[in-house]
Amino acid sequence: MRTIFCFITRSCKADGSWKQSAFLSPHSTQRRVRCTRSDVCNEERSYYITTPIFYVNASPHLGHLYSAILADCMHRYKLLRGFKSRFATGTDEHGLKIQQAANAAGEAPLTFCTGVSQRFRQLFGSCNVSFTDYIRTTEERHRRSVEHFWCTLYDKGFIYKGNYEGWYSTPDESFLTPTQVADAVDASGQAIKVSLESGHKVEWLKEENYMFRLSAFRTPLLDWLQKNPRAIQPERFLQDVLQWLQDDLPDLSVSRQRSRLQWGIPVPGDPEHTIYVWLDALVNYLTVVGYPDNHNHWWSVARHIVGKDILKFHTIYWPSFLLGAGLPPPQSIHVHSHWTVNGTKMSKSLGNVVDPFERSQAFTTDGLRYFLLRQGVPDSDCDYADHKVTKVLNAELADSLGGLLNRCTAPALNLTQTYPPFCPLFFPNERDGRAVPEDYHLLDAVRNLPTLVERHYESLHVYKALEAITSCVRQTNGFVQRHTPWKLNRMDSGDQRWLDTIIHVTLECLRIYGTLLQPVVPRVADKLLSRLGVRADERNWSDLDFLPSYSGKDCRFQGRTLGPDTGVLFNRLESPTGDEQKPKKIKKQTIISRQFT
Ligand code: MSP
Repeated sequence: MRTIFCFITRSCKADGSWKQSAFLSPHSTQRRVRCTRSDVCNEERSYYITTPIFYVNASPHLGHLYSAILADCMHRYKLLRGFKSRFATGTDEHGLKIQQAANAAGEAPLTFCTGVSQRFRQLFGSCNVSFTDYIRTTEERHRRSVEHFWCTLYDKGFIYKGNYEGWYSTPDESFLTPTQVADAVDASGQAIKVSLESGHKVEWLKEENYMFRLSAFRTPLLDWLQKNPRAIQPERFLQDVLQWLQDDLPDLSVSRQRSRLQWGIPVPGDPEHTIYVWLDALVNYLTVVGYPDNHNHWWSVARHIVGKDILKFHTIYWPSFLLGAGLPPPQSIHVHSHWTVNGTKMSKSLGNVVDPFERSQAFTTDGLRYFLLRQGVPDSDCDYADHKVTKVLNAELADSLGGLLNRCTAPALNLTQTYPPFCPLFFPNERDGRAVPEDYHLLDAVRNLPTLVERHYESLHVYKALEAITSCVRQTNGFVQRHTPWKLNRMDSGDQRWLDTIIHVTLECLRIYGTLLQPVVPRVADKLLSRLGVRADERNWSDLDFLPSYSGKDCRFQGRTLGPDTGVLFNRLESPTGDEQKPKKIKKQTIISRQFT
């Protein structure tokens, strides 16, 4: 491990995160500290995040958008941290169900796939999903990559020709053991078998095809997970995987006869067979980074975001394929739960899908992004309802954050339209200035906020990061409310300096919130920071030095003219059912700080 000396006013904690000196002494001195984490001071840090590639048998829905927004948030966060980041998404276009959907639409498969794939691209474009790579499995580069991957597994003896007999679910494109299926009846009263996990109908398959020696990978998988206990997150999903690994793994069928499935990549050297759609699809993560050439650098930093329904494919099959091909498993697999409607998983067949195009127009794209990331938790399913979106956005973005910005930038309070000066005399060490203990708590909370938010972003608990930011916004509203700056006498120089100090502190808080919110709501954060006069090159993680004037350092914003007023930060939304309470009539100079339940 390299040891690097950094001249900074912050110290590098054992876990590699930054810790600033507490708000106890107004004058901190520069200290020479040791940075013992090789990745902390290394400028060449890289990050590669992926979403699953989306099936093109139907239009995108809100659940798909959630996977993409979560990955986008991580990509933007890493860029803010100074990483070189790649973010890949795309569409999964082969397989029986796509073939059937194209037939039903009366279109040639590729034409059909191109249309739906475009729809996903369009959605991501309109929702500011800033992917760097978009992959379609029907591309030539992908075919080459899959063929190479297949041949590698074959040459190493992990693929052999055999006979498969067992259950298959086309909607899941998944092979199932007898214990994974159950009896059921279909709509016409016919006895059928269904997958216990997805509820989809399964059929009995008996054909000669190629098998992958999955059975050889039980021990290597256990070793990998033992050495990398954080490879699957959150922990409860790791437990599911360990549970599956208690039993022997059966070999896996990795091809279908061409007569049954034409829409896919032919097995190299045996065109009577088509490569199994999941093997084909998983290799997309390698194709994006150039496999089979020069992929090592990016592949070594790969992280996947997946929904819980595709856990087995990403945590059992994929790492086994990779190990078989002589490649390392991904650094981590981050699993999220599902969005439901009235407690039922959104699905086209149930007709309960929420249209993300429509909702992003109704709530704005940042509004929808904020809601999904604020309410979506990795561990358990989340129920979607329009009235919840309205409530959260009105309370947190419109009233609390927007109200705070409006308060300290409105000409009534901020006459000069500047970042006014901070006077340390009001926040003395001995604590007998005008500031009260709650104000010091606020400063401590905002000072610690970047570290806290960093921890939550790193573990993909974005909702916790937003919870922490919202709590600080609420405290900042309380700070302004407590000191009623609108009652101060501008003719009195002491009052004027105190008024300036209150506004300065509030603007500094807002600058931190705006910077931290960029990965989640890029447009709203841009509007906020632009109003504060914070330039584009002053919005990085390294600019999160909160209230430097307090520690006797120069504040580069002090005295700067605010940016132009381009209107309210976030417009209040009408309730879809018209039952959203109107904001209470607020006394002229009252800060709104409401919580939603
Ligand atoms: N094509 C496969 C993935 C191959 S990756 C090598 C696939 N596609 S999918 O379109 O069905 O799902 C893509 C992602 O959307 C998955 O992560 C899935 O969990 C997620 N979601 C689908 N419905 C969802 C919800 N209702 N809620 C949240 N995410 C959901 O699987």
